[in-house]
Amino acid sequence: MHRKVRKAIIPAAGFGTRMLPATKSIPKELLTIVDRPILDHIVAEAFASGIEHVVIVTGRMKGAIEDHFDHAFELDVSLRKSGKNAIADRLAGDTPGVGSISFIRQQEAKGLGHAIWSARHIIGDEPFAVLLPDMLMVSERPCLDSMMEIYRAQGGNVLAVERCKPEEAQKFGIVSFKPTASGPLVNGLIEKPKPGTAPTNFFISGRYILQPEVFGLLEDQKPGVGGEIQLTDALVSLMRMQEIRPFEFVGDTFDCGSPVGFVAANLHMAMQRADIAEALGPLIERLADAANPGRGTRAA
Ligand code: UTP
Repeated sequence: MHRKVRKAIIPAAGFGTRMLPATKSIPKELLTIVDRPILDHIVAEAFASGIEHVVIVTGRMKGAIEDHFDHAFELDVSLRKSGKNAIADRLAGDTPGVGSISFIRQQEAKGLGHAIWSARHIIGDEPFAVLLPDMLMVSERPCLDSMMEIYRAQGGNVLAVERCKPEEAQKFGIVSFKPTASGPLVNGLIEKPKPGTAPTNFFISGRYILQPEVFGLLEDQKPGVGGEIQLTDALVSLMRMQEIRPFEFVGDTFDCGSPVGFVAANLHMAMQRADIAEALGPLIERLADAANPGRGTRAA
């Protein structure tokens, strides 16, 4: 029986420079996908996957994140006074249960690995999940929930991976595997390989289940690519001590930390909503036609 994964870390202390100027005063994690902050989707994925306690790593200029997960007392009273009970009920239903979410500050944005290490005392000596809040992963079954199934059967560490175009490998943490009797095991990891040197086109796509021994490795980890303390570098050492299994996620992943991913996520999620799709669908068609006048006539 493997120890239960009860806690998850969501690192949200980065500067979000790719989304400037929006992120000058608004945390990137609170930018909205339709009418819901990105972070709400990620916290919901964690709880839907059986996580009992979420730890959000924040930093300077990220105070609004804590307020977002608080009970908005005045708002609740005012909404109910004006008969908007359905909205008030929805907000109350979305607020995590008392004590199920906590916050820790990463005083300096020294990299993803350092952000994870900042939460070590809250996690303690037990396995935990990591969800990157800018990676919105849409599928019928939450990505982390599928990873939990692998973990329950085999223990160890689990990484969500996806395939990218080979020419895009330099933007990601790239993974290689070896086959074993109990399924593939990760046997190589490299953060943002130089163009043309990536061993595969499988990238780590933003969800992890890790054993607590990684904290000791992060403590000694030297800065890597970009001068940041990289989680991928610590995983290279972890891989020599423990098994790391890949889970290939099949669904729609959006990197909401980049303008193109953010807009695509908004369009995708808006089109899932009947109340919006009716108005938005024809507009998208019209814009696509205007951008490419020959569209739709080619097959004829
Ligand atoms: P990213 O590299 O995507 O986020 O890190 P970033 O640094 O905010 O974005 P850019 O590159 O400047 O546009 C992945 C996640 O790790 C968090 C980020 O907030 C993001 O959610 N992170 C990154 C931290 O919490 N601390 C850090 O020091 C770095």
